[in-house]
Amino acid sequence: MVRVQGDIDAILISREQIAERVRELGREIAGDLDAMDDGAEIVLLPILTGAVIFVADLMRQLPQKVRIKVVTVSSYPGTATSSKGADIIGALPEELGGKHVLIIDDILDSGQTIRAIRAAVEARDPRSVRACVLLRKQIESAMSTPCEYVGFDIPDRFVVGYGLDYDNYYRNLPDIGTLRPEAR
Ligand code: IMP
Ligand code: MG
Repeated sequence: MVRVQGDIDAILISREQIAERVRELGREIAGDLDAMDDGAEIVLLPILTGAVIFVADLMRQLPQKVRIKVVTVSSYPGTATSSKGADIIGALPEELGGKHVLIIDDILDSGQTIRAIRAAVEARDPRSVRACVLLRKQIESAMSTPCEYVGFDIPDRFVVGYGLDYDNYYRNLPDIGTLRPEAR
């Protein structure tokens, strides 16, 4: 049986560090949602597939009554390790008008995904739109993309684990790490 851990070069962020930071982010987001409580519905909008693990953990830190809708974006087809532009696959969910929408993604890199989804959500006339990413690369394109909540700023490396993939593998790694060169 091929094991996912065997292809990992170095762990950048451990599962314990992730869990602690997700709790902090949850507290911050919950506090902000309480502060703008106006009876409008709250919708979490995770971007598939990379955000699946993050949203599962993050949403359980929120005490508010929330709904979840998903949007699928393809930006790194197959074994590509640089963004090929963000394509929204299928339609953005209906009924975002008048709601507080929290876009959730695994990582902010070129910024094209968050920019494209935010623009598409804004066109639906929501009450508010905010974005939350677990990771942000310390590069100009990522740092200059508006994003209200960021878990960790990381070096410009290709990382996998905790939902992040290479060729759709390694999402189940509980930590975030880099791949051995021979695994790519
Ligand atoms: P952006 O549109 O370039 O900001 O890229 C965002 C998307 O690219 C994320 O949702 C990820 O799916 C993917 N991505 C960017 N950097 C990495 C990485 O280092 N590892 C795995 N996926 C990545
Ligand atoms: Mg991805």
